[in-house]
Amino acid sequence: MIAPSILSADFSRLGDEVRAIDKAGADMIHVDVMDGHFVPNMTIGPLVVKAIRKVSQKPFDVHLMIEPVDLFIPLFAEAGADIITIHPEAGPHLHRSLQLIKSLGKKGGVALNPATPLSFLEPVMGDIDLVLIMSVNPGFGGQTLIPSQLDRIAEVARMIKAANRDIILEVDGGVNAETVKSVIEAGATSLVAGSAVFTGDAADYAGNIDMLRRGG
Ligand code: DX5
Ligand code: ZN
Repeated sequence: MIAPSILSADFSRLGDEVRAIDKAGADMIHVDVMDGHFVPNMTIGPLVVKAIRKVSQKPFDVHLMIEPVDLFIPLFAEAGADIITIHPEAGPHLHRSLQLIKSLGKKGGVALNPATPLSFLEPVMGDIDLVLIMSVNPGFGGQTLIPSQLDRIAEVARMIKAANRDIILEVDGGVNAETVKSVIEAGATSLVAGSAVFTGDAADYAGNIDMLRRGG
């Protein structure tokens, strides 16, 4: 699956941009939520998710880079998130937060920063619908993929196989024409891409998405 990250969209025309990537074949819309506390950048809140919900029926893959997170999970669920992905580094109660997401009828994901042990996943492999491997340090688009994350992607693929559950293995950060093949070969089943999709104008978005789907 291809989940374009709107972080790299033209925010002066956000609705049009979401419509454009929907039309261009995005499987999901990746929404990067940043609070300027958990990561050194600030983006959008539930109000904007609610606003763009009207524009696309594609699943909203909402990545919460915020701390604390529990207060906002219901607000993003109500705003229209379909998948809510949280960071275990952002708080002490990962299992409880995942229970909250599922109690709201949403799919739950766990995102791991590049230096967070994969063992954080073990206790919740039976509870999650998605694992998000950060292949950059979160906060900004247009960064370079950290090569050491390729082995981690492969290891998570093995963990998912062993768990024998339908869990999306998503990779986020620096996925582009140069890196996409190795990310897919490592086992990713969903690719987040911001700068690689929002390159050129809307007429190019379908070609950028197809390029990623083809593996470069
Ligand atoms: C970074 C975000 C990523 C980012 C990816 O903190 O979580 O989703 O938007 O952007 P690119 O694809 O440009 O690296
Ligand atoms: Zn993201």
